[in-house]
Amino acid sequence: MAELFRNFIGGKWVESSSGRTFERRNPATGELIGTFTSSTAADVDAAVEAASKAFKSWRLYPAPKRGEILYRAARILEERKEELAREMTQEMGKVFTEAAGDVQEAIDMTYYMAGEGRRMFGQTTPSELRNKFNMSVRKPLGVAGLITPWNFPMAIPSWKMTPALIAGNTVVFKPATYTPKLAIRFVEILQEAGIPDGVVNLVLGTGSDVGDPLVAHPDVPLLSFTGSTETGVQVATEAARRNKRVTLEMGGKNAVIVMDDADLDLAVEGILWGAFGTSGQRCTATSRVIVHRAVKQELEDRLAERAGRMKLGDGLDPDTDVGPLVSDTQLQNVHRYVDIGKDEGARLVVGGEIRADGDLSKGFFHEPTIFTDVSRDMRIANEEIFGPVVSLIPVDSLDEAVDIANSVEYGLSASIFTNSVNNTFRAMQDIYTGILYINAGTTGAEIHLPFGGTKGTGNGHREAGTAALDFYTEWQVIYVDYSGKLQRAQIDTGSIDEGQIAP
Ligand code: UN1
Repeated sequence: MAELFRNFIGGKWVESSSGRTFERRNPATGELIGTFTSSTAADVDAAVEAASKAFKSWRLYPAPKRGEILYRAARILEERKEELAREMTQEMGKVFTEAAGDVQEAIDMTYYMAGEGRRMFGQTTPSELRNKFNMSVRKPLGVAGLITPWNFPMAIPSWKMTPALIAGNTVVFKPATYTPKLAIRFVEILQEAGIPDGVVNLVLGTGSDVGDPLVAHPDVPLLSFTGSTETGVQVATEAARRNKRVTLEMGGKNAVIVMDDADLDLAVEGILWGAFGTSGQRCTATSRVIVHRAVKQELEDRLAERAGRMKLGDGLDPDTDVGPLVSDTQLQNVHRYVDIGKDEGARLVVGGEIRADGDLSKGFFHEPTIFTDVSRDMRIANEEIFGPVVSLIPVDSLDEAVDIANSVEYGLSASIFTNSVNNTFRAMQDIYTGILYINAGTTGAEIHLPFGGTKGTGNGHREAGTAALDFYTEWQVIYVDYSGKLQRAQIDTGSIDEGQIAP
């Protein structure tokens, strides 16, 4: 019988009280990955209780020492990078090199946040008064509820977990049901690195069984969610009712603009990788190409030729360019958009089919798909597809391109290919996304800069970089009066008491 993977609560691996389990199968081959305990609200309660108890001591554990645990975890991640990447490909399908990139992102983030243990800067300022000292310090909030998606099974948990921990919060982690094994691996590594019992807790199960009770739990003051817009808005609504702090990372509809002066070799590479890497299942994926009419035909031909040659298959096969989608549900959702595009009058240039021939018969494969002559108001030009489907939208000018780029309800990433410095700076000024690339595709955000988007993509917070600490800490301002007298600040008296500033 396959191994049963369990929850991690209060430093122990435990089965859910429900006695129920769920299975995960390799989306390329159908092979069983594992059987996982399926949790309930009672398990969430137990995890939150363990995390609340651990917070009492973890908040006082010196931050540089918290950092040392994270350094150890980063080193273990590094040592096991290959094996973790292989397991990731088996669990969610992305090709091995991309899975290795996902693990690398977790390594980088863990090292980076470990270093914050010796920084986490506040401010000190002079006082209006003699013999008084002013400063601000960052404080943890308590138990953080972390809800993560399946498309970056290690990177995204690390974005949430490591800043939460370095700041002194404890954690209840609910990973996506498609990628429980990689979540377990991450927690095992933290355990091996010496994280104290109860500081990190893992509860496996569905959104309704585990996510909802976690979001509603009165002892979880902060929540970080990455996933669909629909669920994110529900999380935020519930969080608002209880006045919780919440960060959301949701959809994208990221555009690449290709101007008439672009280096088309570069643009073709950037678009193929952005649109079809991870089978398009990234929130930063390229899903619109807004192309100047002067180069539209050439770009279209070159993209179609290359996309048509991309090899579908198991991501562990080094010849595979594009792996499967994560599940049959995702496959059907993506394919539905191909029908929608055709119905709307977009022209299919390449791809468009589900593939189940030969070795592909046991997996969830969809051809890299390109539509052209797409107009800005079509659904395929506005709705997130989360699969290997990209739409070419022809335009006559940079103004029109920027206007279309900005016209969708999301604002995560965008890019422009141009050799003109004027076009570049106008794009920098006028495009309103959280991330903008010049002469590079829409993916590849580095971990030490703020990650996140405008409008429907998020709720104003950012992950990664020092910006992450703004979410996982609360400012406390401390005024120390060592004058031994009752001094009153200018704000209390309307004017400064000359006696207090005289020598
Ligand atoms: C996501 O798409 O969900 O910039 C995250 C990138 C990656 C992270 C993407 N570093 O594409």
